[in-house]
Amino acid sequence: MRTHFCGLVDEALIGQTVTLCGWADVARNLGGVCFIDLRDHEGIVQVVAEPSDDAHGRASAAGGRTPGAAGPGNAAVLSTAEQVGYEDCLRITGTVRRRHAVNAKIPTGQVEIVAQTIEVLNKAEPLPFHHHENPGEETRLKYRYLDLRHPQMQRRMRTRTKLVSALRHWLDARGFQDIETPILTKATPEGARDFLVPARMHPGEFYALPQSPQLFKQILMMAGFDRYYQIARCFRDEALRADRQLEFTQLDMEFAWVSERDVQDTVEAMIRDVFREVAGVELDAQFPRMTWAEAMRRYGSDKPDLRIDLELVDVAELVRDCGFAVFAGPAADAGGRVCALRIPGGASLSRKQIDDYATHAGKYGAKGLAYIKISETGEVSSPIQKFFDEAAFAALVSHVGAGNGDLVFFGAGKYSTVSDFMGAVRLKAGKDFGLVAEGWRPLWVTDFPMFEWDDEAQRYVALHHPFTAPAVDDEADLRANAATAVSRGYDMVLNGNEIGGGSIRIHRSSMQSAVFELLGIGAEEAQAKFGFLLDALKYGAPPHGGIAFGIDRIAALMAGTDSIRDVIAFPKTTGAQCLMTDAPSPIADAQLAEVHVQVRAPR
Ligand code: AMO
Ligand code: AMP
Repeated sequence: MRTHFCGLVDEALIGQTVTLCGWADVARNLGGVCFIDLRDHEGIVQVVAEPSDDAHGRASAAGGRTPGAAGPGNAAVLSTAEQVGYEDCLRITGTVRRRHAVNAKIPTGQVEIVAQTIEVLNKAEPLPFHHHENPGEETRLKYRYLDLRHPQMQRRMRTRTKLVSALRHWLDARGFQDIETPILTKATPEGARDFLVPARMHPGEFYALPQSPQLFKQILMMAGFDRYYQIARCFRDEALRADRQLEFTQLDMEFAWVSERDVQDTVEAMIRDVFREVAGVELDAQFPRMTWAEAMRRYGSDKPDLRIDLELVDVAELVRDCGFAVFAGPAADAGGRVCALRIPGGASLSRKQIDDYATHAGKYGAKGLAYIKISETGEVSSPIQKFFDEAAFAALVSHVGAGNGDLVFFGAGKYSTVSDFMGAVRLKAGKDFGLVAEGWRPLWVTDFPMFEWDDEAQRYVALHHPFTAPAVDDEADLRANAATAVSRGYDMVLNGNEIGGGSIRIHRSSMQSAVFELLGIGAEEAQAKFGFLLDALKYGAPPHGGIAFGIDRIAALMAGTDSIRDVIAFPKTTGAQCLMTDAPSPIADAQLAEVHVQVRAPR
């Protein structure tokens, strides 16, 4: 249907006749001459419909024009052009000529097409919105096909395609084997709820969609494949956010006969190469490494954004004897924390803005957010000053390094809660005060705790997943020191995003059973849920480990957008719906009966 792509017409084609297909991005009727911006996946080119050959005396000035290219048919062409509306599908044949007024904003801006024929292949009805407007995400997602036509969305999706292609090439060249694992399977715990699929042939039984290919990839190592990868779709029924979808894509990898350093060095090189190739970004020659404990202490986060040069400072020692029980209590408690965050220049915040910070911290569990504000001229305002004598207050101010013009926030309470909300305050301050430096700051976070105590369930839960090896090799040792046990897990973090997570796995059945037991999974339940794994571990399972990267998150970073929805063609809303297809939707009784399912009213 076409000889060239709109976005690729260039000066080399001047004088030639081309046939292009695309959408009418914009059509301007200037009375006697019409301009159409014709758009395809490669970009936009300007088409002109003029009444006759020399009507505008431009031919001689522009040069390179084929005499007689336009002709007697031009009246018809012009009248067709006058009817063209937004997003009509057009096929246009015309001659390429040098453009009179160069448009430096588009790559084809040196040239234009003088139309000889304009065929309307499909007239578009009046649009619900034009992609030049920003109609809001709901409308964009309902008419996703229109939204995706936007050049910016086309670019983002192209980035994702390039990313996946570069990763595949890198891995294929190094002997990694791409192996598919089942989608209809048994539950793989990764900390979320499962999506379930009723099994028609087994009344009352269900398949689970994989939260990740974790167990299959481990079994592939036991099956002798040595190095595996898969661009794998994962399904997790969990709360959606800007960086989380119900279904998302991992680059999933596993290696046999490795230590953590082997895995980390290999995938670090891969990420560096792929960022260079796809995004033109040169990442650090060696990613810094930080233990989980240090990351929590300094940044209040297990995925610190190192672009923000603000750090938490512990002040327990200086507030232990103050008169404020909210501080003194946690300061004296081994499980507590009192820490400060100094914001240089933060004294410019109004009372209302300071309250907004407290509200923000509240979303992360803060019951309050004390502060000390020192104006440019040195006046102090602080709701906690009254709890300190002069010397103790001065010592506190000096310890956190606060000076004129600064604001210091304080958090007190349980260690993990304080770290979380002060970490969130740090990120907000970084953004609000323009303290997020340009560039790319990757790092490894290592030495995660093996278990987290779940107050509600009154039991340990695995911080990574239950197949992650503990640092200690001995089951008795692990049992005796479960609360403080460290795992062999690691995360790759980039600019405050967890882009990948992995671990060295348990490769002995006895250790796996011990970990299940510590997680409150009894022997019988372990056998029913993971018997196949426990068996496989018995027959010569090699030491192995791996990692999975979030493709959506990496693509979003490369495309420069905050939301992974912008790099997923058909994402779900935060309300877990597809607005275009209207999924999820009710199913007829007859179909439910076939799969032996009866719906009961939500509780
Ligand atoms: P993990 O659960 O850390 O590890 O997931 C690995 C990476 O996948 C991405 N990710 C997500 N992306 C979008 N939406 C989600 N809901 C979502 N959840 C996770 C993140 C994360 O770093 N089986 C292990 C990997 C391993 O141990 O090898 C796993 O799935 O970028
Ligand atoms: P109050 O005397 O209760 O008004 O509290 C004094 C200050 O301490 C207020 O600014 C509160 O926001 C703050 N505050 C209360 N609880 C905490 C907490 N857990 N961590 C940090 N600040 C707190």
